[in-house]
Parts: sequence; C-alpha cells; structure tokens
Amino acid sequence: MDTNKEVSQTLTLLKGKHILITGTTGFVGKVMLEKIMRTVPEVGGVYLLIRGTRKHANAGSRFANEIASSSVFEFLKLNAPDYFNDFCHTKIHCVSGEITEHQFGLPREEFRKLAGNIDAIVNCAASVNFREELDRALSINTHSLRNIVELSELGGNIPVIQVSTCYVNGFNQGHIHESTSVPAGGEIPRHRDGYFEVGNVIEELEHKIAQTQQQFEGRELKNQLVELGIREANAYGWNDTYTFTKWLGEQLLLKSLRGYSLTLLRPSIVESTLREPSPGWIEGVKVADAILLAYAKEKVTFFPGKRSGVIDVIPADLVANSILLSLAEQFKKPGGHHVYQCCSGSANPLTLGTFIDHLMTEAKENHGSYDKLFARRPRKPFIAVNRQLFTAVALCLNAVLSVVNTTLLKLGFKRGLKAKRNLDAAMALSTIFSFYTEPEYIFHNDKLLNLAKRMGKADQVLFPVDASAIDWETYLRKIHMAGLNCYALKGRKQPLNKAPQNISAAQKQVA
Ligand SMILES: NC(=O)c1ccc[n+]([C@@H]2O[C@H](COP(=O)([O-])OP(=O)(O)OC[C@H]3O[C@@H](n4cnc5c(N)ncnc54)[C@H](OP(=O)(O)O)[C@@H]3O)[C@@H](O)[C@H]2O)c1
Repeated sequence: MDTNKEVSQTLTLLKGKHILITGTTGFVGKVMLEKIMRTVPEVGGVYLLIRGTRKHANAGSRFANEIASSSVFEFLKLNAPDYFNDFCHTKIHCVSGEITEHQFGLPREEFRKLAGNIDAIVNCAASVNFREELDRALSINTHSLRNIVELSELGGNIPVIQVSTCYVNGFNQGHIHESTSVPAGGEIPRHRDGYFEVGNVIEELEHKIAQTQQQFEGRELKNQLVELGIREANAYGWNDTYTFTKWLGEQLLLKSLRGYSLTLLRPSIVESTLREPSPGWIEGVKVADAILLAYAKEKVTFFPGKRSGVIDVIPADLVANSILLSLAEQFKKPGGHHVYQCCSGSANPLTLGTFIDHLMTEAKENHGSYDKLFARRPRKPFIAVNRQLFTAVALCLNAVLSVVNTTLLKLGFKRGLKAKRNLDAAMALSTIFSFYTEPEYIFHNDKLLNLAKRMGKADQVLFPVDASAIDWETYLRKIHMAGLNCYALKGRKQPLNKAPQNISAAQKQVA
C-alpha cells in the first residue's frame, strides 16, 4: 500500500503557516475559520482583520462577541473545549482594521509588521448587497484590493486567495468555465496577458459618483447611488452592482499581481453546510431563502423563474474546503494565477423546478417541524412564471390594488390592503433576485475537481469539494430547511449537534 497517499498534502502544506483572513464576522469566513481550527491544528497562526463597530470598538472584542460565541463552534466547544480555548489564545491574532482604508488604517509600522508575520492572505470581506450604493460597493469590492496588493508586495509577494463569485460572469450565457470572464456588455480593453484594463471604467464611475453627490443629498442621494450602480452594471454586462464591482476587483488583482501567487475562488450561491461542522449550519438569509421566507409568511406565491434553469447552490463547507485546497496549492507551487469555480451546476445540476418542488413538498408534509419558518401549513403553491407573464400580472394587479389601497388609507385603515403589501414584496424581491431564479448559464468546476484530484485521496476525504454526490432532496428537505429554521432565524433553539460524517478524522487531528 502506498502510505504517502494517506497523508494530507493540505495539512502538510499549511503546517506552521500564518494566514491573514478578512471577513470572518461573515458567513463564509466563519465556516472557513472553524474548519481551520478543527482540522488544521498545526497551522502556525490565523490573523483576523476585523473593523471596530459602535458596539465592539476593536477586533478582539468583536472576535469574542461575534465570532467565538457563534454556534458554528458548538461542535468544537462540545468535543474539544480546551483545544478550542487554547487555539483562540495562542493562534488567533486579532487585528483592528478597516479594509477600505489605506493600509487598513493601521500605522505604517504595524502594517509592515503584519506583512512580515503572514504567509498568505484570504480575502473574504465584501459587500454582498446586490444593490449597494455604487461608491460603497466600489470601495469595499474593488478599491480595497489595492491594500491587499500592497500588503502582499510588502511581504515579498505573499499569495492571495480572493473569494469572488461565479456571478462575475454577468450576463454571459451557456457553459461558463474557470477563466477570466469577459464583459457581456460595454467594451473594455483587454491586455494581452488576459485581464481587462479597468482604470478608465473606474475613473468614469468615480466621476459619475461625484456628480451624483453634488446633485443630491440624504435619502435621495442614497437612492441615486443605488440606481447609478445598477445602471452602470447593466450597461457593462452585469445584473447588479455587487457582481460588477467584484469583477472589477478581480481585474485589479490580475493586473497588479501578474507573475505572483493569486487564486480567484468563485463560489456560486452559498447555502447551509452539507456536513461540517454540523449539517445545515447557516448564517443570514441568502438569495433563495429570502424568497422562501416570503412564501412561508404567505407574502409571495408567484415569482419570475425558469423551472428548467440550473440554480447553482453550493454548501458552505465545500466552499471552505475549496479555499483551503487552493491555499495549500499556492504554498506547493507559488507564482501562478488560478481561477476556480466552487459550484454544483455542471457536476450535479439542480433545476429551479426541482428546488421549488422539494421545498414545497417538505413545507406541506412537515411544516410543523419548522416552527420559525411556517406558522401553519402553506395553503397555496409557489409558482414560478416567466418574467413577461410575472410583469404583466403584477402590473395589472398593482393597478387594481392601488386604487383599493388608496381608498382604504383615506378611510383611515393605517396598513392599507394586505394583498397590495404582498404584491409590493414580490415585486421588490423580483427586482433584486429574479436574475438568479432565471438562470441561463451553467457553471463548470473541472479545474477545481482536478485540483482536488491532484491533492490526493486524503484531502478528498478531509476537504471534499465535489458536489456531485449531494442528494438534493435530502439536502434541501432535511438539512437546509432544518438549518434555516435552527440557525438562520432569530430566537433559534439550541441545536442538537450531529457529528459530521468525517468528524472522527478531524477529531484525531484535534486530539
Ligand atoms: N454568501 C454567498 O452566497 C456568496 C456567494 C458567492 C460568493 N460569496 C463571496 O464570499 C465572501 C463572503 O461572503 P459572505 O456571504 O460571508 O458575506 P457576509 O456574511 O456579508 O460577510 C461579509 C464580511 O465582509 C466584511 N466586510 C464588509 N465590509 C468591510 C469593510 N469595509 N472592512 C472590513 N470588513 C468588511 C464583513 O465585516 P463586518 O461584519 O464588519 O461588516 C463580513 O465579515 C464574499 O467575498 C462574497 O463575495 C458569497
């Protein structure tokens, strides 16, 4: 037997390494940090860049109150409490910084020291608000990457893993592979090295932002900056400001880190964990879940959607594993650029129709098990219709309901008509999410699967990334719905932790 095959290359390559991670107060960042703590005990250290808030002024306080206290660590705290505490005290280094400020707002010497202390950067921080004000989205998703580049250069070209998104591919349709994505809209010059020259685009955007800021103020300024973001994104070939500014960020990195170590790791729609640290762990309400919640509250029963389209969902633990595999790869063979898509569309396509049917069946049969989701058995089906039909029906209904609503308001009924409020909710949700429920693309992940293959059998067990084995019915009905009910919704119950399937291996690492 070849014993080498049993050694995890990733564990070997991460041994003794110090990694800076941004965005660990968020969903994906937490799952990744937990995985490192549980599975990579010999990592040298983890530096967490966290900004202060009004409630918790510095990174240490936010780590204690918003990260270490999270239910994501319940399994570890339950099974290895001393190890967890020891790791927090000896290997976690909290850095108070604002990623959008020059050198994260740190004194120069501290920034330099940070660069000297770390071996890799995993940048998870982002504004994931699809309709963010353009200036804010540009600042966090694009400009802040200059600080990442500066840190990398200062430390002698420290490898950078940029957590991006499959949706940087914008309005492109069909089969989408792991490479630099080409804008589907406006002309942007392309450098012979493959990246796009976005300097002029960003300058133009800044100019339009400045003009808007001169013309408007207060609430109206905010609205105008949101609309400007969407208009510009659409013109260049993206559905929303988030994905457009993430794409611009990719281009800045591809240009600035030419010849150095860079991985663009693009997840699709990240949903609750499949297995680790416990099945169904999730934080916040994501794309499809916002619609499911609105349905559960009986606000939305029809929505624009393409039932035959492949909605690309990927459990968060597979995303964390992909990040760690690609990080290990950068230590193994530094100096290259890689693009990986962490997705399910090509390997195990889940159509929107199947997605809806599984959730609806579970809601009908077992709504009582999801007390925070459903107040009672759903009475109406959820129907996906094409966008033209949705728009036509919504406009007609809106015209009729608006008249009745106005009359009711005049008569002193403060909340107006419930049906009108529900229609408004459906229309608002469709404005934000319908691009994602009408998929005209299939994301491929052959390169990521090849990476997993190259890293060997042990890593395929410890760091699985392949979505092909997911049984969607079980995942959606028994894992994801339960996770939403238990973790994502307020006033949750204490969860009963079920051991992840490969936990015995992980426990051995911990012990
Ligand atoms: N969730 C998905 O479905 C999905 C899909 C594809 C790709 N991704 C990518 O995955 C990454 C993580 O997403 P997520 O879902 O975990 O998002 P999230 O839960 O909203 O977390 C975002 C993180 O970014 C941090 N951040 C935002 N602005 C910051 C700033 N100015 N300075 C410092 N930190 C800042 C947040 O910190 P604060 O707590 O201080 O705000 C938070 O830790 C993002 O890069 C996103 O593009 C996510």
